[in-house]
Amino acid sequence: ACVLVSYVDFVKHSNEVAELVEIDWDNLGFGFLPTDYMYVMKCARDGNYSKGELQRFGNIELSPSAGVLNYGQGLFEGLKAYRKGGNILLFRPEENAQRMRMGAERMCMPSPSVEQFVEAVKATVLANKRWIPPPGKGSLYIRPLLMGSGAVLGVAPAPEYTFLIYVSPVGNYFKEGIAPINLIVEHELHRATPGGTGGIKTIGNYAAVLKALSAAKAKGYSDVLYLDCVHKRYLEEVSSCNIFVVKDKVISTPAIKGTILPGITRKSIIDVARSQGFQVEERSVTVDELLDADEVFCTGTAVVVSPVGSITYLGKRVSYGEGGFGAVSQQLYSVLTNLQMGLVEDTMNWTLE
Ligand code: COI
Repeated sequence: ACVLVSYVDFVKHSNEVAELVEIDWDNLGFGFLPTDYMYVMKCARDGNYSKGELQRFGNIELSPSAGVLNYGQGLFEGLKAYRKGGNILLFRPEENAQRMRMGAERMCMPSPSVEQFVEAVKATVLANKRWIPPPGKGSLYIRPLLMGSGAVLGVAPAPEYTFLIYVSPVGNYFKEGIAPINLIVEHELHRATPGGTGGIKTIGNYAAVLKALSAAKAKGYSDVLYLDCVHKRYLEEVSSCNIFVVKDKVISTPAIKGTILPGITRKSIIDVARSQGFQVEERSVTVDELLDADEVFCTGTAVVVSPVGSITYLGKRVSYGEGGFGAVSQQLYSVLTNLQMGLVEDTMNWTLE
């Protein structure tokens, strides 16, 4: 049976929660592990979200006619919590809240306020505190969802919406760990189109990459890099992350213009790089520049900063570096992760304790 608890009740009854399970903290990948609680908050199409609640983690009930199931009216977010001594650190949760609000506007969905989002994230993380990996072993991945949960038949915004947060402990996203990944550039299939939804975190964007991603994985690549659908010449992003190229110490990344996800790690890395004295350009980046780069790396909440070891484009493979991080990505990775894990003073004011 589903036990409903408010956060206050949860604290009172926390010793009733299922006993500790054995987790191999040293071998966490990026797979789903069910945890104790999820947060649920509902709202009518023209209403406002009011009080949400923590529920025991479990399946949810939806009408077969729910907007999210029939017409893909859904968004998700991703952020992480880290253990720091007896405290818990969240990295820029208000940025995720704002990005969800932006996506919700495009998808005709009411969205929680920034404050409601951040409070819900905090409550969910605290309720699942025992699932946060020990320092240095990984993080608690937080997955907020927003969906049209009300029933529709004709194409229209759903009459009811559900905001839900669940969490899962995670380690490295790619099976390579922090070793360089191998990407293939996709020439036929595209992730996004101008005027479409590529710039928001709607669920359908991720369904759209599965075909190219599965084919690439079957051939041994780690992930797929997509090109713009008009010229097939400019870099967009990877299925799960943004891309950066480094040439002569200048860092470039595709500019945000509707077809590329405005990654929070992307934005943070740009700020970190500038604070470290690098020149960073947000602009159109061509495949030729990618193939000619000194160093290439990806950024994302899930992937953090991942060095790219090789790119394959139309059958031609170009390799970078000598099997590890390049000097620039290593420096940016260290500065960012030290901040995220609370190992240095947070001069950026990005972490929430
Ligand atoms: C994240 O980095 O949090 C993402 O949303 C990527 C996801 C598709 C794994």
